[in-house]
Order: sequence, then structure tokens, then C-alpha cells
Amino acid sequence: MTSIPDTSDYKTVGFSQTTITELMIPSYSNFGGKIHGGILLSLMDKVAYVCAAKHANNYCVTASIDTVDFLHPVEVGELVSLLASVNYVGNTSLVVGIRVISENIKNNSVKHTNTSYFTMVAKDENNRPAKVPGLILENRDQVRRFIEARRRKEIKQSYMQEVKQIQMPDNYEHCIELLHGERCLVAG
Ligand SMILES: CC(C)(COP(=O)(O)OP(=O)(O)OC[C@H]1O[C@@H](n2cnc3c(N)ncnc32)[C@H](O)[C@@H]1OP(=O)(O)O)[C@@H](O)C(=O)NCCC(=O)NCCS
Repeated sequence: MTSIPDTSDYKTVGFSQTTITELMIPSYSNFGGKIHGGILLSLMDKVAYVCAAKHANNYCVTASIDTVDFLHPVEVGELVSLLASVNYVGNTSLVVGIRVISENIKNNSVKHTNTSYFTMVAKDENNRPAKVPGLILENRDQVRRFIEARRRKEIKQSYMQEVKQIQMPDNYEHCIELLHGERCLVAG
């Protein structure tokens, strides 16, 4: 017989869905006149925090960020909107998916700037990881996002295992051979 989970400790995705919209002002721009990537990263961290803290009902910290590829530059004067929702929950961690779009209000064009995934960990009053509520999935997209997030987590774990196993050859001459074709000069 399968046990029925206590749904009082579960929340819908909609409960914590969060959107932040911000006008891109000149002080956010780089020497090329485009918006600094760091400004967008800071806004993404902010929206991830709000979304995660609402779901967890606790203070949260950013544990890791899964790929940030900026697809288009963002211009001064555009409105940037960051749409965040909880995609996945573990035990004390949760994954917030963030879609970033920028809107030119003069010509009504909208660009998809990037989609990234922030892993946030809830903390209790003693700064220890705290259990987060489960997630109620109400449609196919929410089910798909949960499964995709779980798969990304598995892939990251096996990637981290492989990275740990990277070893330098004992023989220095062999190391130098491995650099053949690279754009570096060994000076020492
Ligand atoms: C992230 C942090 C909370 C992990 O703490 P920890 O004591 O190692 O906790 P645990 O190993 O028990 O892991 C807790 C959860 O975090 C997850 N986690 C830990 N490190 C992670 C990482 N690098 N990426 C993704 N998830 C991670 C674990 O999988 C676990 O999830 P689960 O409970 O849902 O299974 C801790 O390292 C921390 O506080 N880091 C600093 C965070 C911070 O200050 N961020 C802002 C940057 S300025």
C-alpha cells in the first residue's frame, strides 16, 4: 500500500512565482554602452532569493548557478523582467528557474536574454540547512521542469566526479607534449 504524503507541507509553484521588472539606466552600462552582465546577475540572484525564500518560508543562500549564457546584449532604456519559479525541490535545497527578457518599449520588441537555474539552500536560525516544503506540480510544464532539473543535478554530480579524477601526468615532458597546438608558451 502506498502512503499518502502530508500535503500540508507542500506548496504550489504559483505560491512563490516572482517577477521583478527593472528599467536599465545609464549607470548600469559598460564602456560599449550595453548593460553590464554583473547587473543582470545581481538581479537574477535577487529574484531567485525572493522566490526561494517564499517557498521555503526561511532565509536562503545561493549554493550554485547553472549556466548563464547571455544570448543578446541589453540596451540602456530597456525594461528587463526576470520571471522566477521553483522548478525542483530536494530536501533542503531547491532549484529556481529564471527566464530573463528585455523589452524595448519604443518599438515593442521583446528579446529572450537568458534562462538560468539557481540552486538555493534554506537555512534555519542556527545557519544549518533546513528542510523545504514539497512542490505541488499542477501541469505538464511543471512536471517537465522538475524532471529536467533532477536530470541536470545528476549530470552535474557525474561531471564533478570526473573533474575530481583529472590528473596531471607524472612525467613533465609528457605534460609539455599535451600542450602541443595550444596558444601558450612554456617559459620556465
Ligand atoms: C551551500 C551550503 C548551504 C551547503 O551546506 P552544507 O553544509 O554543505 O550542506 P549539505 O551538504 O547538507 O547540503 C545541503 C543541500 O545543499 C545542496 N548543495 C550543497 N552544495 C551544492 C552545490 N554546490 N550545488 C548544488 N547544490 C548543493 C545539497 O545537495 C543539499 O541538498 P538537499 O538537502 O536538497 O539534498 C553551504 O556550503 C553554504 O552556506 N555556502 C555559502 C552560500 C553562500 O553564502 N552563498 C552566497 C554567495 S556570496
